[in-house]
This record gives sequence, C-alpha cells and structure tokens, in this order.
Amino acid sequence: PTALKVALLGGGTVGSQTARILTEDADILRDRVGADLELTGIAVRDTGATRDWQADPALYTTDAEALVDGADVVIELMGGIEPARTLILRALAAGTSVVTGNKALLAQHGEELYAAAAATGAQLSFEAAVAGAIPILRPLRDSLAGDRVTRVMGIANGTTNYILDKMDSEGAGFDEALAEAQRLGYAEADPTADVEGHDAAAKAAILATLAFGAPYTLDQVAVSGITAITAEDNEAAADAGYVIKLLAIAERARAADGAEGAVLRVHPTLLPREHPLASVRGAFNAVFVEAENAGELMFYGPGAGGAPTASAVMGDVVSIAQRIVRGGPARLRTPVAELPALDPAEAVTSG
Ligand code: NAP
Ligand code: HSE
Repeated sequence: PTALKVALLGGGTVGSQTARILTEDADILRDRVGADLELTGIAVRDTGATRDWQADPALYTTDAEALVDGADVVIELMGGIEPARTLILRALAAGTSVVTGNKALLAQHGEELYAAAAATGAQLSFEAAVAGAIPILRPLRDSLAGDRVTRVMGIANGTTNYILDKMDSEGAGFDEALAEAQRLGYAEADPTADVEGHDAAAKAAILATLAFGAPYTLDQVAVSGITAITAEDNEAAADAGYVIKLLAIAERARAADGAEGAVLRVHPTLLPREHPLASVRGAFNAVFVEAENAGELMFYGPGAGGAPTASAVMGDVVSIAQRIVRGGPARLRTPVAELPALDPAEAVTSG
C-alpha cells in the first residue's frame, strides 16, 4: 500500500499530541514506514471543543464505529472501559491492529483482548499504557525473553510522584499539587485512579503479565494509595533521611505449600534518600527489573503527559505499519541520508 488509514479514538491530552505528530511529522513517518500514515478522523464526544493541539476541524467526529471500520490501524486513546473495549474488539475481529494506552482496560479485560487479537492475527500494542514514554514493555517481552524475571518494582504513576515530590520539596498541599498535575495533563480523567493507587495497580498487573507470562488482573493487586499522606508525614520522613514514594511491585514468591506464584502490590514506601528511586522527581517514572541472568536493570523517563505518551503510541504505530508495509520492522531507518555526519571540530551541538 502507498497509504495506511489511521483512525484515532480520543483527542484529549494524549490524542491531541498523537494527532500533532501524525500531521507535523508526516514526512519522517512516511520515510520510516514506506507509506503515508493518513489520519482519517478523530473520535471525540464534543467536536467543537478547544484542543491542546487543533487538527483540521473536519477530522473530528462522534462516529467512532465508522472510523474503526475504515481503518488499517486503530489508535485508542479514549480511556475508560466502554466504549473503548467494544471498539477495540470490533477492530481486532476485523483483523485490524490496535494501539492503546488504556491500562485500566488492559488490566481488567486483557485476556479477552489478547485472545481477540490472536484469533485474527491482528496486533494489540500498548507500550504507552505503562510509564509513559519509557520503553519498558517491549524490553520485558522481547529483550528479556531468554531470561527469567524475578522482580519488577518502580514508580509507575507520574501524578502521585509529582504530588509527593511537590509536598516534599516545596511543602505544597495535596490538593494544590493534584490540581497542578491535572493542569499539566498527568492525571487520569478521574484522578481518584491515580491518588488511590489503582492506576499504578493496573500497571503492576500489566508489567507482571509481560514479565511472568500469565494474565494478571487489577483485582489481584493489593493496593494502598497516597490520600492519607500528610505534609507532616513528609517532614518526618525527610528528618529521618527518607522520602515517601508510591511503588508498584510484582515479584515471584512461594505460597505456604511451596507452590510458586507472583505477588503484586502498590503502596507508599519509605526510601532512603540515597536510593536511586528517591531521586525520581516530578512526573518522571522509573522501573527496576531484576532477572536471573541480566541482574538489575533500570528504566527511567517521563511517565505521563501528552507528548511523552504520544511518543510511545507512535512507536507502536510505526512498528505495526512497518509490518503491514514491509512484513517486518526496518532494520536500519531509511532517511539516514537526511542526517549526514558532521565534522565534530566545526559542528555546533545543542548539548
Ligand atoms: P483525556 O484527555 O480525558 O482524553 C480522552 C479523549 O477521549 C477526549 O478527546 C474525549 O472526547 C474522548 N472520549 C472519551 N470518551 C469518549 C466517548 N465515549 N466517545 C467518543 N470520544 C470519547 O484522556 P488522556 O489523558 O488523553 O488519556 C487517554 C488514554 O491514555 C487513557 O486510557 C489514559 O489512561 C491513557 N494514558 C494517559 C496518559 C497521560 O499522561 N495523560 C499517559 C499514559 C496513558 P472529548 O475531548 O470530546 O471529551
Ligand atoms: N495518570 C497516569 C500517571 C498517566 O499519572 O502516571 C500515565 O499513565
């Protein structure tokens, strides 16, 4: 094909930035994919709303089903369970590959969605669902496929890390810090999911699914959020040389009868200030992975926000599009000629 039709479901914080990249970086994407990625429409609730980034007004529609039916690739960034679940199942049943950042949906209905994709051979990709821009799911699934992961632990929710950091470093109040996180596009549509720990729990379930190879669900995660943490708690922790962080943990363990299994939990944790996770500031995330042969690995980067999350979405879109066009990923990106090597003695760099 010379062009692939891309349907975008959702034009909010992440959807707007995804539309921007599809539009502004169309030339780069064409070079990498070998075909145009044609944005055919953006499904929203209110077609007249003001957006973070405004696409061609003609692209906004409330008819998500029609968009899905005409697409080669569907990007789901609506959030929530319905209608996202039904729309994704509709695409997968037709053999259309789907990219989503919807961790709540994956952690509750992942098994159904993975089965639907397997039934038609469509791809279901969701790198954006965990830790924003950080490439963590593909490394767990692909790079560590020959190893045995024993533990995954990290700061997997940007909103709560932002709130705790503001309380710790600036003495900000909880409500004030949450409002700022919402304004910056880090929080979920209902921020209860962030502050009560359910968003991090969904991510713990997804991380465990990829690390341990079984379909874990949100209800298997023991959850405790940050709503009970006060400025006084932060001060006391700081005085004692600690910092409070919300950690998501998935680890291999043994039951009382010796049977092997996994334990999944999310809770605020006192970390010594010198611990590597203690230095993760603002809405950044970090994920530690322990594997039998690799040892300890750490992944770090922006964990929330429109553009960082859209970066992860677009990585999945390009990968799927390359498979459709070329039958597999391009080993070496084609536009190398656009960026020739310069003389280091004469070149001016941004760093
Ligand atoms: P958002 O700003 O609330 O945007 C949601 C978009 O979906 C809006 O454009 C909304 O339309 C549209 N929408 C919602 N329900 C719809 C329906 N029933 N029919 C048609 N359109 C509908 O959310 P977001 O922050 O971009 O997050 C989107 C997804 O990405 C969620 O699954 C979230 O968990 C995930 N995610 C977010 C981040 C982040 O940092 N924000 C990071 C990683 C993953 P209107 O604009 O007209 O209301
Ligand atoms: N609300 C989520 C967070 C978005 O704060 O981490 C990224 O998944």
